[in-house]
Amino acid sequence: MPSVPDLRVEIFPDLEAVSEAAAARVVARAAAAVTARGRFLVALAGGATPARTYERLAGPPHRERLPWGNVEIFFGDERCVPPEDPRSNYRLAHERLLSRVPLPPAQVHRLACEADAEAGARQYEALLRQRLPGVGGGFDLVLLGLGADGHTASLFPGRLPPPGPWVAVVARPEEPFRRLTLTPEVLNRSRLLVFLVAGREKAPALRAVLRGEAAMAASPVHLLKPAAGEIHWLLDREAAALL
Ligand code: 6PG
Repeated sequence: MPSVPDLRVEIFPDLEAVSEAAAARVVARAAAAVTARGRFLVALAGGATPARTYERLAGPPHRERLPWGNVEIFFGDERCVPPEDPRSNYRLAHERLLSRVPLPPAQVHRLACEADAEAGARQYEALLRQRLPGVGGGFDLVLLGLGADGHTASLFPGRLPPPGPWVAVVARPEEPFRRLTLTPEVLNRSRLLVFLVAGREKAPALRAVLRGEAAMAASPVHLLKPAAGEIHWLLDREAAALL
């Protein structure tokens, strides 16, 4: 049975409240990171759940509280499609957040893989090894989602990348595009992983993952155990209904 790391689970009435809590946590961690190390390294999640969090970060009061000049934006995963493609995780973040805040473009690191996924993975890994702090250093905060099948980022049960690389190419027969994903190796260097999970359809997977049940033993979430970091689960009542 997979071990279940000690968890910080917070349940909110709805997605709006989850989004506000997530935005406030980003702001708090950004302030601490910039005070301590002069910069805030954050990886954004794909999917629909974080959209409202991004909008809240792009508006008052959070927008004014974030030190955008010291913020570096990365992505946890991406579909290998053009950035303007509706399926692109970058597109969503750009629409709801990146286009609305004073972030220097050189501090936004898109996972570019539409032309050549393997080259994109190698280039992003080189970027991470250059931008993440020294020995053992990693992101200050990584936002993550959870799929109803127990996947997170583009780490899918039964389709995990080999150990070693920090960025991997993922091909799924049911999708006409490939994906890039950060791997547990680099995610486990993070100071904080924040899962945002909302909706009744996630309740079975969420319970199985959090309780370490056999049904989700293959979930890559069990590989995420930041050695010197924390994991926070921000849930709405619907997703937490079976806990
Ligand atoms: C992706 C996402 C993925 C997402 C989950 C949850 O590119 O598909 O990164 O990992 O976080 O599938 O998606 P929703 O938030 O849309 O439910």
